[in-house]
Amino acid sequence: MGEVIAVVSGKGGTGKTSVCAGLATALAEFGESVLCIDCDIGLRNLDISLGISQMDALSFMDICRGEYTLEQAAVHPEYPGLRFLTAPMNCQPEHIDPSVFGNLLRQARKTCSYIFLDAPAGIDAGFQLAARYADRILLVSGADPASVRDAARAAELLELMEKPELRLIVNRINLRMVSAMKLTVDDIMDRAGLPLMGIVPEDPQVTLRAAMEKPLLKKNKKGAAAACRRIAMRILGLRVPVEL
Ligand SMILES: Nc1ncnc2c1ncn2[C@@H]1O[C@H](COP(=O)(O)OP(=O)(O)O)[C@@H](O)[C@H]1O
Ligand SMILES: [Mg+2]
Repeated sequence: MGEVIAVVSGKGGTGKTSVCAGLATALAEFGESVLCIDCDIGLRNLDISLGISQMDALSFMDICRGEYTLEQAAVHPEYPGLRFLTAPMNCQPEHIDPSVFGNLLRQARKTCSYIFLDAPAGIDAGFQLAARYADRILLVSGADPASVRDAARAAELLELMEKPELRLIVNRINLRMVSAMKLTVDDIMDRAGLPLMGIVPEDPQVTLRAAMEKPLLKKNKKGAAAACRRIAMRILGLRVPVEL
């Protein structure tokens, strides 16, 4: 049975979509079958980070409404094991019946080993839809105090939803600043009050590759791409130390 992983944040713009695309492509590189679902209704952009914005893709509502089947979901041309469903454009998240979305995920679990849900910012209906059926939640935060505080608030809400596996990913870490501040992995975990799944450095390649509409991990072995591969290995259950 596949695992549903929601990528969420408190604050907007912390890098959910970039991290979601990085982890999904890393797992596809490792030979896993992966489905990515953009849950950011109205502000979708996971297709750009995956480098497939030029492709026609069905939305998850096309499948939920029974108009198409999951087998018809777009297949990534560079990662044959990676399928993609975009977010519907003309729909309010609060009008989506969560149980219908849950049925879609139940189907997807039968054929995919990992199903990634790229959540919208904040803690409203879209976030709740993504979090509801997830087996594991990755909370993406920046390292700055405002982001960490918002992440801690989102974590409180998720704990009320009794989500079993809640982990923090700290994105856009500036390694020079970290060493100047003598910041440790424990300091970061203490601030957010959450166990750490991984850290991703500030890396201009993230924005550059998205601007080129190419997946970050293609041709990138260092920086944020390497960090995503390390986190993907942890998702697979391998022991990979977190290093700053
Ligand atoms: N590790 C990183 N290094 C540099 N820029 C990043 C990094 N992660 C994300 N970004 C940039 O930050 C912006 C917001 O990222 P995005 O993934 O769209 O965030 P969200 O989905 O949380 O709104 C984008 O311009 C993206 O390219
Ligand atoms: Mg996003």
